[in-house]
Amino acid sequence: MTRQLITSALPYINGIKHLGNMVGSMLPADVYARYLRRRGHEVLYICATDEHGTPAELAAQEAGLPVAEFCARAHEQQRAVYEGFRLTFDHFGRSSSAQNREITQQIARELHANGFVEKRSVRQVYSVADGRFLPDRYIVGTCPYCGYDRARGDQCENCTRVLDPTDLLEPRSAISGSTDLEVRETEHLFLLQSALTGEVERWLADRAGGWPVLASSIARKWLAEGLQDRSITRDLEWGVPVPADVWPELAAEGKVFYVWFDAPIEYIGATKEWADAAPTGEVRDWKSWWYEADDTVRYTQFMAKDNVPFHTVMFPATLLGSRRPWKKVDHVKAFNWLTYYGGKFSTSQQVGIFTDTALELLPADYWRWFLMAHAPESDDSSFTWDLFAAVVNKDLADTFGNFVNRVLSFSRKRFGGEVPAGGTPGDAERRLGARAAELLAEYEAHLDALNFRKAVQSLRALWSAGNSYLDEKAPWLQVRTDPEGAALTLRTAMNLMFLHAVVSEPFVPTASRAVREAFALADDAPARTQTWVDAEQAGALELVPAGTPFTVPPVLFAKVADEDLAAWSARFGGGPERATGSTPLG
Ligand code: MF3
Ligand code: ZN
Repeated sequence: MTRQLITSALPYINGIKHLGNMVGSMLPADVYARYLRRRGHEVLYICATDEHGTPAELAAQEAGLPVAEFCARAHEQQRAVYEGFRLTFDHFGRSSSAQNREITQQIARELHANGFVEKRSVRQVYSVADGRFLPDRYIVGTCPYCGYDRARGDQCENCTRVLDPTDLLEPRSAISGSTDLEVRETEHLFLLQSALTGEVERWLADRAGGWPVLASSIARKWLAEGLQDRSITRDLEWGVPVPADVWPELAAEGKVFYVWFDAPIEYIGATKEWADAAPTGEVRDWKSWWYEADDTVRYTQFMAKDNVPFHTVMFPATLLGSRRPWKKVDHVKAFNWLTYYGGKFSTSQQVGIFTDTALELLPADYWRWFLMAHAPESDDSSFTWDLFAAVVNKDLADTFGNFVNRVLSFSRKRFGGEVPAGGTPGDAERRLGARAAELLAEYEAHLDALNFRKAVQSLRALWSAGNSYLDEKAPWLQVRTDPEGAALTLRTAMNLMFLHAVVSEPFVPTASRAVREAFALADDAPARTQTWVDAEQAGALELVPAGTPFTVPPVLFAKVADEDLAAWSARFGGGPERATGSTPLG
């Protein structure tokens, strides 16, 4: 078995994320991690909050908290939401950790020693009133092309032209509004990515062939344009300090690394945090995953498409330039955007549904299933409340949940609280077994290939096979004339149900557990291990033997009622007004 390293793009610290973030990185990574664990792989799933940079400092200012305190609280809030979503990180770290500081500084030293870092003098806008240099996007002014009066120093949102801060008319600070701005000369470190272009190209050519096209095409496009040298330091208070042993003058000025330099390194940093947090008696070897890791480690990254260039080109360039045997990504899974009624989910404008609010409305399984069933894989996909309700009601309530409650309640009523014995499997059972084996193999192949929507289709078909079998055998009629036959039908259905529970766990972990726990399997039952059931066993449908006691779990999935649907669309925006473009939430 291979060792599977999985990371999802690190959510930025400045606020609770919306469902669009969730489906583009953490959720699919969790589904994949759970799947691989059940197939018996050794999995390490790492994520963390991305905590440095200007937006974090500004969010802290707005909250009236010191930035370290703000980040500590915001990290805890995000962690709690992800736990609510049943994300099974092996570690959820923080890019502001001591481990990340140490590794980031070390990599910077190595890049320097190898001639890939250069100190350059740059002219930058300084705001006297704010007492800080302003990054381009924190300088606003009037666009010289269209006259829009809130254009940012990097781009005009109105006419989309890319700008330089010095192009702006009447420039002012976006932080304080002050116009007391000066251009000052200051020194920064530059990573000489241009010198690494060829190497990154060769590295990418070796693997991108096997990547889903969304990731590989973006990576190739960036490389085709050629890599630019880029500045990797900033004048901020909160960040990984430039190491004083190499750059004493810059360290004395308080320069820190640019957030996009230290954030991906936190994948490694968080793994070290995980190792350092090992309980006594347990040895966790972070280096075996990252450093001189042999071919038994397979590394898969999950992210939204805007993150692809950083992960497929810039971070690899950083690692290659260090000339150290760091593990680099083997497989990149990227996502398009989930929209809200065709428009952007937006954190700043409060459009759409936030992950914490979602969990106040319904438990994680509902969201997990809907989001994965409509994951923006090959294209953008759109959230609407009607679609959400339709998917929940049909797949979860009518198909998965109803099969469980229907079979277990009926069996208990007619045969008591144990899986009924009797009957000999016949043609219908053989066909069901063959169909289940076929669908399961399909499902596995789709998950292996990270095709989540296709995997959802196969799983849905595997669920439906249960209801079709019941309709065919009609045990409620059978029981009148052929009780043995009815017992066989119900026992077979329970076995299929148990199989459903085991293999659905990556998507709907809570319901799946409730179904598994409905059966009090003997300690030596093969299914006790609750690892993946291979196709052959599935075909036999004999995991839960006759005589196994069971209970009937409470209804697994409630339908979304019309009045909930109406209330939620009204509360979050949606329906006709939203579709025609007016803003929700008043
Ligand atoms: N915080 C970034 C975002 O939200 C993602 C950082 S991924 C990392 O887009 F690898 F750099 F950490
Ligand atoms: Zn403009």
